[in-house]
Amino acid sequence: MCGLVGYTGKRSVVDILISALGRLEYRGYDSAGIAINQNNELIVDKSKGLLINLQKKLAGQKYEATSGIGHTRWATHGEPNEQNAHPHISQNGHIALIHNGIIENFGKLKASMSDILFKSETDTEVVVQLLGKQITTKSDGNHILRVISEVCQQLRGAYAFGIMVAHIPDKIFFAKKGSPLIIGCGKEENFIASDIPAVLPYTNKVIYVKDNELGVISPNKISIYDFKLQLKNNIIKDINLSPQQVLRGNYSTFMEKEIAQGSYAMINTITNLIKGKILQKIPLAKITDFSNIHIVACGTALHAGMIAKFLIERECRMSVSLDFASEFRYKKPIINKKSLCLFISQSGETADTLASLELAKKQGAYCLAITNVLGCRISQIADYVIYTCAGPEIAVASTKAYVAQITALYCFIERFAKVNDIKIKYDKQEIARLAKKLEDWSTVLEWKNLIPQMCQQESLYFIGRGLDYYLAMEGALKLKEISYIHCEAFAGGELKHGSLALITADSLVIVLLTQKELIDKTLNAIHEIRSRGARVILITQFTYLKNQVDFIITLPAVKDILMPFVAIKPLQELAFLCAKHKGLDPDKPRNLAKSVTVE
Ligand code: AGP
Repeated sequence: MCGLVGYTGKRSVVDILISALGRLEYRGYDSAGIAINQNNELIVDKSKGLLINLQKKLAGQKYEATSGIGHTRWATHGEPNEQNAHPHISQNGHIALIHNGIIENFGKLKASMSDILFKSETDTEVVVQLLGKQITTKSDGNHILRVISEVCQQLRGAYAFGIMVAHIPDKIFFAKKGSPLIIGCGKEENFIASDIPAVLPYTNKVIYVKDNELGVISPNKISIYDFKLQLKNNIIKDINLSPQQVLRGNYSTFMEKEIAQGSYAMINTITNLIKGKILQKIPLAKITDFSNIHIVACGTALHAGMIAKFLIERECRMSVSLDFASEFRYKKPIINKKSLCLFISQSGETADTLASLELAKKQGAYCLAITNVLGCRISQIADYVIYTCAGPEIAVASTKAYVAQITALYCFIERFAKVNDIKIKYDKQEIARLAKKLEDWSTVLEWKNLIPQMCQQESLYFIGRGLDYYLAMEGALKLKEISYIHCEAFAGGELKHGSLALITADSLVIVLLTQKELIDKTLNAIHEIRSRGARVILITQFTYLKNQVDFIITLPAVKDILMPFVAIKPLQELAFLCAKHKGLDPDKPRNLAKSVTVE
């Protein structure tokens, strides 16, 4: 869940490392550090907190070094401070190492090194100390690779490593298992990185390093091996992304930019599905002849899955089981060769979702993945991949990717219904037209006067029924994760079974009502809430209901079944406005990171 980068070439490495870490900071931002090799000496600088603190520390220092490694951290072992920040240095001062992942057996390994004075509380330091025990100033490249392979085979857990050795200044060594790692291929320069945004301003030619691979880059050479040190073929892929796509552009934050890109994400996803005939290429038997359907994901991706479960069950009359991936992998799910499983993940790197996918595959299920990142791990494991084309999503709170996920799911369900001879009430062209209609629509002005009092609230409640309940859950997640206001979503009919006890005359409740058939039932909940003195904000297209509530956020009216595409935007804008009002950084909420690559 950290961001790592390495560079060797002709340019001043400090600038490269800092700018690349800036584009990886969404992966973790509680401390940062770099190690550069200047005249066979490793120079290390680290700092607690955001990358800017390290930049301030480095300001004014001049370095000629042209190779180095850098890291931005999301703490798993050891509190976020300078001591625990990466890179970690071996006791002999000869090796610097950065790591993304978790070493689960670090305790046992640490106990076996009683002669080492550990400087940090991290799991990672164990690895550099193990390397330091064998790598000396006399070690050549082959010996170093052998030692890295030996050490990696002692480790349990997930890792991507970047390693520098003082007496070999222009080489960066690396190894990977479980955590993402790419190589950026340049002219007389090369990079390693956790993700593509880091290298995009310099090259769009990348190699995806696979699990149980290690290797070394130098300015003019890239060598990848398996753990038996057999040379591997380097498949260089051209990435069709422009550097602008990973920059904020004229927006103050990535979240604001990405909310505004919702329609673009819908249209791009549909265009890709149509142009690539993506859904038509799914083996027919797999979506017509199956015994059960499972949808598995985490966080916002699971909320998109909930909409899909609702639509498949109601429109296609087939039951669907839906699970948090972190629960699915330990509940011994009923999976067999006739199971159809959908795994949804923006990053395609989420550890729990990946482990659930591996479990389902092992049990013979046909596994479809819906993901937003080309070449991510989920795309390497799944039987078939449906890409959402939302473009890189940088802000930790997922917005445009959610919209692209429900777009892909609606289109998949349209295809699913068609091949199972079921008539469905919408088609992808209709969704594309709706996306155009929503392009310039925003509720920022409607929310503005409500934001100050909402930010005063200790708790905020979201209510909805059916599709609106799943939207309410996503609305609550967005608001809590970036404004730190305690939020909960309740199914409208469940209120009187307990949650109503939370409602007082000071409460402010956000009610979603976009489904005609649920107006009366949802009005019951509104009356129950208001009769306790609480105030209600209604998000709806049924504006004639405004006299029955305290405030209304008006939605453009479209078919009820397509209303999730409309109602999600005010929920995303609300969260953004509350975070801004509270002076918080909506892009980097505390304690979170963009892709959760550890369990
Ligand atoms: C959403 O805003 C969060 N960032 C988080 O819940 C996220 O949806 C979850 O971690 C799943 O991520 P994924 O889609 O990359 O697998």
